[in-house]
Amino acid sequence: MAKYQKLLEPFKIGNVELRNRFVMLPMTIEKVDNYHITDDLVDFYEQRAEGGVGLIEIGSCYVCDCFGTEPKYHTTTGACGIWDDQFIPGFARVAEVAHKHGAKVAAQLELCYEWRPNGDVPLLSYAPSADVPSGPFVGMPEREYTKEEIAQVVKQYGEAARRAKEAGIDIIEIHAGIGYMVMRFLSKYSNHRTDEYGGSAENRARFLCEIIDEVHKTCGDDMPILVRISADDLMPDGNRIEDTLEIIPIVEAHGVDAWSVQAGFHEAPRPVANQIVPEGEFIDLAKQVKTVTSKPVFPGTRINTLDMCEKVVTPWAWPVSSSPIRPRPARWPRGIRSSCAPASYARAAWTTSSSASPASAR
Ligand SMILES: Cc1cc2nc3c(=O)[nH]c(=O)nc-3n(C[C@H](O)[C@H](O)[C@H](O)COP(=O)(O)O)c2cc1C
Repeated sequence: MAKYQKLLEPFKIGNVELRNRFVMLPMTIEKVDNYHITDDLVDFYEQRAEGGVGLIEIGSCYVCDCFGTEPKYHTTTGACGIWDDQFIPGFARVAEVAHKHGAKVAAQLELCYEWRPNGDVPLLSYAPSADVPSGPFVGMPEREYTKEEIAQVVKQYGEAARRAKEAGIDIIEIHAGIGYMVMRFLSKYSNHRTDEYGGSAENRARFLCEIIDEVHKTCGDDMPILVRISADDLMPDGNRIEDTLEIIPIVEAHGVDAWSVQAGFHEAPRPVANQIVPEGEFIDLAKQVKTVTSKPVFPGTRINTLDMCEKVVTPWAWPVSSSPIRPRPARWPRGIRSSCAPASYARAAWTTSSSASPASAR
């Protein structure tokens, strides 16, 4: 088979067919106006869809009300709101431009380190356990979730998913990685609860499973669900790959259609997502996840050349991912199809990608 052609093979997430193996990882790029998707953001995604990616993941779609809370909790700044129906038209515009060019869209539902049940009470830093700092810049949690509050959060995820579906979004993504709220429940490092939400793998996964059940309830069983997870959280006494391999089947039994694999918490004692992370660093974690699931697995992070994409896809036949913040990497699929010299595309990408620097391009 000609070089790179395998990257153009379609695949499915649930019942949604994607035209190739290029997945644009989620990014919060702050092109929002008070949590509303702007013309600029729609244009950004349209360029990527037109460039040929199979799936666009809209980063950080916040499920709880953040209005009027900046700057105290800047992790929410720049996120797209999805906690109210007023946000539906913005998502509908992204879905429309992506579909026009043949791409599919996932909305990544998110809570970082803070939460409130509604806009009438202050946004506070929350965590599964009050004895562990609730993330970089936040300090010790102001609140530990009660079971009643967990039930409210689960409802918020379900409602957010319902809005995404109404907007024409194809896939619901749950961010359960990088030390954000869902991951904090999954991880042995940050979850010291003694109730049914802490302790065993099954208990630590309960919050995520309940979210998935709720999404199925509001969107129907055929709405595909993608979960992003840190397969090794790189935190002291935290989840290692063995823990993740135990968690994956527990969660998948609730109906998951694909896994996106990353590593670390943001505050992990080593870099997890920037230029000094070696090329393809966490691919082996994804490979191990693949041993316990038949669903598509995306190895993310530092897959920044077509040659690396092909290495991932050819032996294991998985989707590949890359977060092309600038147009050129997003045009790889079109470049391959139109027989542009793919190698020079890849080389050009080294100088323009968000995370690849020429120095790291060997
Ligand atoms: C500007 C920027 C914003 C990001 N926002 C998100 C986000 O909202 N959700 C998420 O899961 N990952 C986010 N990420 C992480 C990327 O999805 C990806 O994991 C990371 O950039 C590593 O992939 P790369 O080596 O291809 O850049 C962001 C990355 C960047 C550069």
